[in-house]
Amino acid sequence: MNLPRISKRLSSAASLVRDGVRIADIGTDHAYLPIYLYLSSKVSGGVVSDINQGPVDRARANLCDYGCEDAFVAQRADGLDGVLAHGVEDIFILGMGGELIASIIENEPEIKNEKYSLVLQPMTHPEILRKYLGHNGFEIDCELIVEEDKIYQIMRARYTGRVSEYSLLELNFGARNLEKPTPELFALMKRTRAVYCERVKGKALSGVDTSQENEMIEKIDKFLSEYLGE
Ligand SMILES: C[S@@+](CC[C@H](N)C(=O)[O-])C[C@H]1O[C@@H](n2cnc3c(N)ncnc32)[C@H](O)[C@@H]1O
Repeated sequence: MNLPRISKRLSSAASLVRDGVRIADIGTDHAYLPIYLYLSSKVSGGVVSDINQGPVDRARANLCDYGCEDAFVAQRADGLDGVLAHGVEDIFILGMGGELIASIIENEPEIKNEKYSLVLQPMTHPEILRKYLGHNGFEIDCELIVEEDKIYQIMRARYTGRVSEYSLLELNFGARNLEKPTPELFALMKRTRAVYCERVKGKALSGVDTSQENEMIEKIDKFLSEYLGE
């Protein structure tokens, strides 16, 4: 059976799975990631779920088209409701806002267990998600930044009970990414800087305080000048 063609964002997230586990894909939409992992013999099956019926139907149809319908349960559910009962260990929550991902984790207390590995890809507000993870005892053990149509951040976290307090740059770009800077990190920082500069312009026109934006711009500038001499 041919593998589905998946984006660089999804294949990068897929690279963070542990071999042979059962997985959950929350907010699956099309189920391409689980299908890809199963047909690559990386995982043994699991559950795909979505809060909306349309995506669940689409996921079910794709699972059937690729002959994976016996390996995955497709269910309509809000976040992690009823998911852990399927004996999954690696949980993907990709392509949603950072705040929503944090609330999905928060709403399932059983997830605070070292056996679960969470692969997360916030479309917005990675800083809210990292702050939530750090304050609630989830340790981030791997981070990736990938560029295709946009620049995406992907992280893998696991409950250890140890609390982490991250700096402004760490919240926004990831401590592990900052330790080993890549061209993608520099590109993301430059894009973020441009967004903050626009905000400063807009706010300054209406006389609103811009100290938070200025702090971010200064910190990005300091980092870039250290590594790139810019
Ligand atoms: C942009 S799609 C991302 C699809 C896929 N995960 C990916 O990254 O390509 C977001 C999906 O999350 C689903 N979703 C939103 N809130 C959810 C929730 N609380 N629980 C489960 N699914 C949710 C939406 O219905 C939608 O199908």
